[in-house]
Amino acid sequence: MKSFLSLTAACVLLHAMPVLADVHSYANIADYRQQRLHLDLAVDFEQSILTGFAEIEFERLSAERSALVLDTRSLVIRSVEYAKGKRWERLPFELGAADPILGRPLTIDVPARAPRQFRLRINYESRPEASGLQWLSPRQTAGGELPFLFSQSQAIHARSWVPLQDTPAVRFPFTAEVRTPPGIRAVMGAGSAEVDRESGRYTFDMPQPIPSYLLAIAAGDLEFRAIGERTGVFAEPSVLASAAHEFADTERMLEVSEQLFGPYRWGRYDLLILPPSFPFGGMENPRLSFITPTVLAGDRSLVALIAHELAHSWSGNLVTNSSWRDLWLNEGFTVFLEARIMEAVYGERRRRMEERLGYEDLIANFATLAPEMQHLAVDLTGEDPDLVFSQVPYEKGRLMLVWLDRAFGRDTMNRFLTDYFDHFAFRSIATEDFLAYVDEHLLAKYPGRVSRSELERWIFTPGLPDLAVLPSADVFTRIDDARAGFLAGSLAAESIDTADWSTQDWLYFLNNLPEQLSAAQLAELDAAFELTTAGNNEIAHSWLKMAIRNDYRPAWPRLEEYLLTIGRNKLVRPLYTELMRTEAGAEFARDVFLRAKPGYHPLTITVNERIVFPETS
Ligand code: BES
Ligand code: ZN
Repeated sequence: MKSFLSLTAACVLLHAMPVLADVHSYANIADYRQQRLHLDLAVDFEQSILTGFAEIEFERLSAERSALVLDTRSLVIRSVEYAKGKRWERLPFELGAADPILGRPLTIDVPARAPRQFRLRINYESRPEASGLQWLSPRQTAGGELPFLFSQSQAIHARSWVPLQDTPAVRFPFTAEVRTPPGIRAVMGAGSAEVDRESGRYTFDMPQPIPSYLLAIAAGDLEFRAIGERTGVFAEPSVLASAAHEFADTERMLEVSEQLFGPYRWGRYDLLILPPSFPFGGMENPRLSFITPTVLAGDRSLVALIAHELAHSWSGNLVTNSSWRDLWLNEGFTVFLEARIMEAVYGERRRRMEERLGYEDLIANFATLAPEMQHLAVDLTGEDPDLVFSQVPYEKGRLMLVWLDRAFGRDTMNRFLTDYFDHFAFRSIATEDFLAYVDEHLLAKYPGRVSRSELERWIFTPGLPDLAVLPSADVFTRIDDARAGFLAGSLAAESIDTADWSTQDWLYFLNNLPEQLSAAQLAELDAAFELTTAGNNEIAHSWLKMAIRNDYRPAWPRLEEYLLTIGRNKLVRPLYTELMRTEAGAEFARDVFLRAKPGYHPLTITVNERIVFPETS
């Protein structure tokens, strides 16, 4: 194992090897490949477990007979059975030692006489602490009456609720039958075949092959409302109307996406609004994006998130990174596509504002990242993907594509994108496949515009190459003027004309204030704009960061409430980080974190516990 890992590391350094092993999976996918999955699961809210079986059809690829190895993490494996005609025959299996990042390999002794295609049934249950599930009590939901369950499988948490080859290199179609207590509706990132809310029986069908990290399930007091012909929203009843209003443009986004990137290949596109502990902004589960309620701002100002998750239907779900080293193929492309959608639906100005804000986030993020973590293709050997999450695959990835866009022109780039999605549709690829494709379809066809070594600089060196086309702040000139006037003392906060400021204007105004402000300046801003009680969670986040930095105590009750109710990592992690810089802040952080912890998702706990209790983790 050791020599295997260092060989992989060496190949990353030389960036010469076409196919890299996935360092985050135990599965021996060169020997066996899962071809199709059927899940049969009961949702047990009493015990906070899923219980049932996974039936997986495998293909044997190698001539040699070897054991079959699957990924698991805190699963209880009851038995493994082999389909022999109509009967099931028990097979010996073994669970290996638990690795803190990877979980436990499940090694199955496949019969020597097994044909090339064979089926296994694994009877199992998840455990209450499954890293890819969150079980919420009724109190933690909007309605307060029924419990709620949701999954978050990306990057390597599918294995905590399904035993399988948990690597994005392998794709498979699936079907499922899910049973819930009466009155609780189950949904999956899949087509919904049968729905019986009375009996609590639901069946699902996902005919298109997907990678394991897109497996998704949720259950709770959910209702559905249509937005358009192919789009709609699932949410708790009390959230449904505001969600349908906020995301009313989803159908339009889907239409422009098809014009821009080619046909939408997944049938429906629905949204599921989760409780506020959902650890991400959104997750592109196929046919059913999972969405944080923290973007329900009332004015549709944060819907770039929907454009983003929808765009993954092409970049990510159709053409998939084959390991987490190449996450930028999913996220960088998606941020680039998201901007195309935003521009088509809301205009160029909105797109440019969001682009500038994203770039500023990247620059701030670089300052906290070791050089080797600033590559687009990043060696994650021995790393926990949850802990190395950064803006680099997103915003640096976007900037590389913007650079290509400028070099080849928009028409050529649009054609390149649709051809790329078509060519690699339903396949998992590595950075090297992208490079070979760009070589053939851009560099060779239009010589002299960009070189292969320039591309490689983007991918295998830290920071931004000087080639980068940086998004200008022109769109924010009046905001810069207002801020400068306020800081110079020549313009009182209440005299700034903010009547038509958008959320993006506010974020730009706040994020670019100096680190240190006086108590009087903070109080003046707060009095004029009521920032401490801002209803927009992104604006509140930027303001609270500044309030912490400057020990502006009037904002701390809001800060406490914010950390106790929101579990979206991108919003809470920077606040804990900022709090830990002073002793008084650290004390507050530890106290609030411990009280918030029972309501946080496992991922939010892992990431923030290290920040708040650095000595014990
Ligand atoms: N697929 C990601 C979330 C993710 C990435 C989970 C890597 C686990 C590992 C999702 O599409 C995403 O990028 N969400 C962002 C949206 C934002 C960039 C608009 C988020 O949650 O903030
Ligand atoms: Zn994404």
